[in-house]
Amino acid sequence: MADSPARPFTGSHDLSVSTELARFMGGSWADTPLPPGSRVAAHSVTPARRARLSARFPGERLVIPAGELRIRSNDCDHRFRPYSAYAWLTGLTGEDQPGHVLVMEPYGPRGHEAVLHIRPRSPRGPGSGDEFYRDRRYGEFWVGRRPDLAEAERLTGIRCVHLDEASPPPPGREPSTDRELAATLAELRLVKDAWEVDQLQLAVDHTATGFEDVVRALPQALAHPRGERWIEGVFGLRARAEGNGTGYETIAASGAHACVLHWIRNDGPLDRDELLLLDAGVETDTLYTADITRTLPLSGRFSPVQRQVYELVLAAQEAGIAALRPGARFRDFHLACMRVIAEGLADWGVLKDAEGDLHRRYTLCGSGHMLGLDVHDCAQARAETYLDGVLAEGQVLTVEPGLYLQPDDLTLPAGLRGIGVRIEDDLVVTAEGARLLSGALPRTVGGIEEWMGSLLDASL
Ligand code: GLY
Ligand code: MN
Ligand code: MN
Repeated sequence: MADSPARPFTGSHDLSVSTELARFMGGSWADTPLPPGSRVAAHSVTPARRARLSARFPGERLVIPAGELRIRSNDCDHRFRPYSAYAWLTGLTGEDQPGHVLVMEPYGPRGHEAVLHIRPRSPRGPGSGDEFYRDRRYGEFWVGRRPDLAEAERLTGIRCVHLDEASPPPPGREPSTDRELAATLAELRLVKDAWEVDQLQLAVDHTATGFEDVVRALPQALAHPRGERWIEGVFGLRARAEGNGTGYETIAASGAHACVLHWIRNDGPLDRDELLLLDAGVETDTLYTADITRTLPLSGRFSPVQRQVYELVLAAQEAGIAALRPGARFRDFHLACMRVIAEGLADWGVLKDAEGDLHRRYTLCGSGHMLGLDVHDCAQARAETYLDGVLAEGQVLTVEPGLYLQPDDLTLPAGLRGIGVRIEDDLVVTAEGARLLSGALPRTVGGIEEWMGSLLDASL
């Protein structure tokens, strides 16, 4: 076993180390325990998840990497987040996982033994190398303490072996090159267990707090020339303080920016007479994310035309939510949302009638998606289990119809142009229908105005 890599990952501007310094660094260190925050929250549920995967691939070696670091510039990497299926199978979710690999090693006619190939804590002591104080990627003095092999086994309940150049993980089916394995991993994650639903509720609850923070910060955001950025920052503070961060880039879109579905530039000012579309989610430390959108009047009160658009989208969302139940087709809630929108547009005279698909000029995309470890969760599932499939109890998804009335759309009366509204909530499918996880945030016109008023009054 190689105790340390031949070349530590150092910067071009790092000074070389004298023999005397290397010797001095090699000794007189007390042993330290693993920090108290090191734990694997999903420990009790991961064996059953691996057993379900094992049953689908008898006799085959499966290799599920956590993923690699990506360079941001020179010796600075992007923050690391492990591949979601790796996190799901191991419970390991931390920034200390790059390069680690879960191998499901077949034994007997069926069954697998899970083996984790990990880079353990940098060794210390005479002759054991300089990784711990020189390696900018993996050194304990650069990025923090990792578990040693015994500690990692205790944390995960999985046999751990050293990942090094001398013993790379053996080849096998890998999700990056094997569509069937990737699809299966996504499909196994479609139905959430009770622990996962609790994590999603936690993500939603922190997100609701972040939305309250944003409303309280509106006076400062309105005064700043890049108010959208201010809002992104306020939400990001809450996301980082309570969880791992945001589950996707925050969309803070004022006025006509709301007509751009994924407006993440967030470089615009806020205008008191316009709406703010805020689409944001906190990701928990266990990597489950919320995905919530509220469209708020920056004055605290909807104007008549803003209310007209908002109430049509809200009616569409209500129709979509009412269509959720086990056995319903995944498409049904979207179709229910779109029926209401198309009829509303016909009532307004924007469309000749509600038939056909011309309403899509103003809605642009689907009305929801699965939610879990990824914001667009289980996206690699096969069409027959997701897009063309039926809903099942325990699935968690968003319902998020929207109307995007482009500022340059000549089919619209001038008063409607430049208004974008999306209302997005997170729900778990239950035996009877669906339960709203994000019900703590108001959705009706009156509820939003009252909620904004009380938060703004309290912050003055
Ligand atoms: N936040 C991206 C989406 O709503 O799908
Ligand atoms: Mn969404
Ligand atoms: Mn969203």
